[in-house]
Amino acid sequence: MKKMMVTGSCGQLGRAVKKRMGADWELLQTDIFEADGIRSLDITNVDAVLDFVRTEHPEVIINCAAYTAVDKQEQDVENSFRINSIGPRNLAIAAEETGARLVHISTDYVFSGDKETPYTEFDTPGPISVYGRSKLAAENYIREFSRRHYILRTAWLYGEGRNFARTMLELAKTRDNVSVVNDQIGNPTSADELARAIEYLIATDGYGLYHATCEGVCSWADFAKEVFSLAGKDVHVEAISSEEYQRRNPAAAPRPKFSHLDKMMFRLTGDFRMADWHDALERYLK
Ligand SMILES: NC(=O)c1ccc[n+]([C@@H]2O[C@H](COP(=O)([O-])OP(=O)(O)OC[C@H]3O[C@@H](n4cnc5c(N)ncnc54)[C@H](OP(=O)(O)O)[C@@H]3O)[C@@H](O)[C@H]2O)c1
Repeated sequence: MKKMMVTGSCGQLGRAVKKRMGADWELLQTDIFEADGIRSLDITNVDAVLDFVRTEHPEVIINCAAYTAVDKQEQDVENSFRINSIGPRNLAIAAEETGARLVHISTDYVFSGDKETPYTEFDTPGPISVYGRSKLAAENYIREFSRRHYILRTAWLYGEGRNFARTMLELAKTRDNVSVVNDQIGNPTSADELARAIEYLIATDGYGLYHATCEGVCSWADFAKEVFSLAGKDVHVEAISSEEYQRRNPAAAPRPKFSHLDKMMFRLTGDFRMADWHDALERYLK
């Protein structure tokens, strides 16, 4: 069986990737902390990464490791670039040296959100947060250091782990009213759908940059309403502006107002389709 290395394999996407690929690949599961069946590998340590990849010789490396606490990174800048930029750089160097193909996940937050039509893979990024800048630096390192790469930009991800949908369900246990931003627009995407996109791409030689989000857009407030409706929770969503949210949470990182990702590359290179966000969310909540 061919070997697939999964970094950050205890995270939301890591779990979805392992569930989807486990039958067809020998999985080399790593994360920052050792756990049952999971080996400890800090992707920020270039020597450790090179040593692991040279020894194990995976055919494919799926980088699911990242620092995803967007607000925290505004004050924790060096760790942001260490984990989100240098980590992927290290994996790119190791992949290139050993001939492995590298899958890396990026984000809609590489864009400013100032555009009024969907962002394609050919639009110029302009991140407005530390997280967005660190993820854009990773994209650039990967292009620079590894030839056989797939970069998938995703958005508003939910799976097994901490995410917006889970937070809403937690709040529903104690509250009948929540305030949610209604002027940021994006594409809620399930980790299962993103894993399906990865599986599709690695079966091709179509290297490069892809937008990989569920179909359709909404605001965070619409997303919350759909979570409550599908879960049968009677919670009122009070729609608030980003400015009001920022006033109530001064430490929050700036976020793009409009980050609808257009999956132009999937259209130009084949016929892969991702599920509608409502359908994917319904499957997740079941
Ligand atoms: N979540 C979203 O809404 C979203 C949106 C767009 C793009 N993305 C991107 O999608 C990818 C997957 O996100 P996710 O939500 O699955 O992330 P996640 O649940 O936060 O998982 C990330 C994993 O990486 C681990 N990790 C952190 N630092 C590491 C290091 N130095 N070395 C090795 N592992 C390390 C984390 O461990 P600890 O938990 O112990 O830190 C965690 O297990 C990321 O690239 C993220 O930037 C996410």
